Amino acid sequence: MESGLDYHSARALLAWQIELGATDAICDAPVNRYELEARQPKPAAPQAEATPPRPKEVDPVEVAARAAAAATDLAGLKAALAGFEHCELKRGARNLVFSDGRPGARVMVIGEAPGRDEDLAGRPFVGKAGQLLDRMLAAIGLSRQDNVYITNVLPWRPPQNRDPLPAEMAMMKPFLERHVALAQPDLLIAMGNFSCEALLGKRGITRLRGTWTEAMGKPVMPMFHPAFLLRQPVQKRAAWSDLLDVKARLDGQ
Ligand code: URA
Repeated sequence: MESGLDYHSARALLAWQIELGATDAICDAPVNRYELEARQPKPAAPQAEATPPRPKEVDPVEVAARAAAAATDLAGLKAALAGFEHCELKRGARNLVFSDGRPGARVMVIGEAPGRDEDLAGRPFVGKAGQLLDRMLAAIGLSRQDNVYITNVLPWRPPQNRDPLPAEMAMMKPFLERHVALAQPDLLIAMGNFSCEALLGKRGITRLRGTWTEAMGKPVMPMFHPAFLLRQPVQKRAAWSDLLDVKARLDGQ
């Protein structure tokens, strides 16, 4: 036999196959099904489900604008800020720093962002710069206890006191606008470059300071930031002149 089997062995094998139930020959040559299986193409990976449409990306500025507009008083605005989840600064901060002083005061000071002391205390301008601010205000008869209201462009401390990012300022601006509208001051003092950027869309405090301008429907006096004055005491003379301008305006001159 061509297969190399003798007649008796081949017959015994056939008989064994018949016993197993293989009674019909389907094709001329035998098929090794084990080999066949190995060669079979792998079943195609199940088709990925049609990707559901991605949820529309939220625009943090839009969310902020809606949340701020819904606030009808300062407590509501503070709660809206506390519930705003689109600013990463919130995750690194210990406290929300909303405001200090007298709501409804004629003067509203707008600083830049909380530092370490403010983050710990949950109040703006409580560190060295804040103490200088208090002395500056006292020089023209103002104080946060009696007649000044204070907030910042950013309500959470940036890590390592880094500069505010444009995206952070943009998403906080609707809250700041609403803050001014609800606090209803007669005038704003913009402390430093980032405050000017948020309020006036401009930087360059050396050029801007000392000249009244307008933002958010209020007169604005841009001034050197007290932290800058601590580093550059020679500029206190300019700050003094700006404070006198503020006083003159309050006195109706
Ligand atoms: N500097 C600011 O601008 N704001 C603060 O609250 C403290 C320091």
